Amino acid sequence: MRFLRLCVLSLVLLAFVVPLVAAQDNSGAGLTIGFAQVGSESAWRTAFTDAVKAEAESRGINLLFSDGQQKQENQIAALRSFIAQGVDAIILAPIVETGWDEVLTEAKENGIPVIIVDRNVTADPSLWVTRVSSDFVHEGRLAAAWLVQATAGKCNIVELKGTVGSSAALDREKGFNEVIALFPDMHIILSESGDFTRTNGKEVMESFLKAVDPSTICAVWAHNDDMLIGAIQAMKEAGLDPANDILTISVDAIPDIFKAMMDGDANATVELSPNMGGPAFDAVVATLNGEVLPKWIPVAGGIYFPDTAAEEYAKRGGS
Ligand code: AHR
Repeated sequence: MRFLRLCVLSLVLLAFVVPLVAAQDNSGAGLTIGFAQVGSESAWRTAFTDAVKAEAESRGINLLFSDGQQKQENQIAALRSFIAQGVDAIILAPIVETGWDEVLTEAKENGIPVIIVDRNVTADPSLWVTRVSSDFVHEGRLAAAWLVQATAGKCNIVELKGTVGSSAALDREKGFNEVIALFPDMHIILSESGDFTRTNGKEVMESFLKAVDPSTICAVWAHNDDMLIGAIQAMKEAGLDPANDILTISVDAIPDIFKAMMDGDANATVELSPNMGGPAFDAVVATLNGEVLPKWIPVAGGIYFPDTAAEEYAKRGGS
């Protein structure tokens, strides 16, 4: 009889307690999280900021947002201010790779976990929990592989690089160069940073078009869509027909590049998803719950061409 009672009691406990435990809230509601963003240099960056803010709001997270305005010193000051305010965690989208050890050590000493998003840092891995990001090297390889097949392995390329010292620029360059090195007639003839902005992309492309005979340029490889959109403007102003006279390949997959494809001005873009807020907040909650996370949480992306541009443009909120 006693045994039967025990069994019934266990079943009752299972029925009521287990669902309570299972329903544990992993949204991060009530947490205060500091987010140090790079700036607003590109349409992709703005979409990423908006996505993180929307995700925080939907989860009931109190997000302290800082726009670094493309300056590492602003980001370091933001991190120090988050530490002083005693936030539960910090999300850092670093502008450049180096120079983070000191401030990350301060966060660690104060028991504040740091999640890296998007670009990478060279700081000791013990100073940060995990990185939520795409694979920039793969993006570069994908861009080069498309260009190789589009040109049968023979092309003089001009390159618009991203921000100097940023892992997005360094790794995309590495991946692209790795692939074209396999083809003796694929050459980068001019290369300069356009700092991931539309204005600089246009200026640098204008200087390229003056530096060499434009008819010798086969393609422009831009580390982001914004610089390419600037370059498209420069080509048009120089009387060229972008995507026909000079092929284009870039990264991000923002609505404006799909518009450019629809207008016949761009050939291909490699996607960088701006939706990293969800996995970053999940990582914060997991680490605060004592879980051990992998050092990299990958975010996938594809490559897109004019055939689906109208569809992608509509899907991504182009208007
Ligand atoms: O770090 C990612 C890069 O930063 C994006 O490709 C670019 O648009 C942004 O400025």
